[in-house]
Amino acid sequence: MKWESFESPDALSARAAELMFGAIHANPTIVLGLPTGRTPIGMYDRVVQECAREYRCFRDVVTFNLDEYCGVPPDHAGSYFAYMKRHLFDHVDLDPENAHIPNGLDPAPAGYEAEIRAAGGLDLTFLGLGRNGHIGFNEPGTPFDSRTRVVELTQSTRHANADLFPDGHVPTHAITMGIGTILESRAIVLLAAGAGKEDAVARLRSGGVTEAFPASALHTHPDVTVLCGVRQRSEA
Ligand code: GLP
Repeated sequence: MKWESFESPDALSARAAELMFGAIHANPTIVLGLPTGRTPIGMYDRVVQECAREYRCFRDVVTFNLDEYCGVPPDHAGSYFAYMKRHLFDHVDLDPENAHIPNGLDPAPAGYEAEIRAAGGLDLTFLGLGRNGHIGFNEPGTPFDSRTRVVELTQSTRHANADLFPDGHVPTHAITMGIGTILESRAIVLLAAGAGKEDAVARLRSGGVTEAFPASALHTHPDVTVLCGVRQRSEA
């Protein structure tokens, strides 16, 4: 696991966008795994700016999002589909046929795995980090060989993401790629930044591997880069 530390969210976002663009330049038909949440917004902003300067940067790229809320239609402002449209899909030349995101109204999402396989598998997956160490929506206790499925969200995760649902109806379940699915990505970049992430980052740095802390599964993968925007207490 390689660690890179950043003094500001902007610097971290710039590096994440640089890694995404470098990978697209090296392989214009790349299959990307994409995250949501607050942390990647700066990365998407920069990717959109950069793409406006380039001709056809996403033309042959294929994307698979990590997760989606259950019971939330794609046109609901709180859906991750709406998030992706706002922050990326509506602003780049990605073919809508190549942009995959689990269907929050599909009670049996296993076909998502087949779609990833049919695309040749994930080449590079960007991840955010939950305060409890979740990746995608794989909460603590998730087996490391888990696949795409419906999961129940913890109260703390629902609380952390409540601002997308101002009516107070925060979904109780989500569809997420499994940890096994994520670990099959050829390369992974984890964006570890944001308020309240200090404990999760310290635990990841400590190196222990346990299903009680989902992000620790990344220690078993040969090509993971952590972009860290969280100052450790000892550095403060
Ligand atoms: C949600 C997403 C995760 C994301 C996490 C962190 O729970 N399902 O994929 O990593 O939020 O979000 P934030 O970046 O807002 O802290």
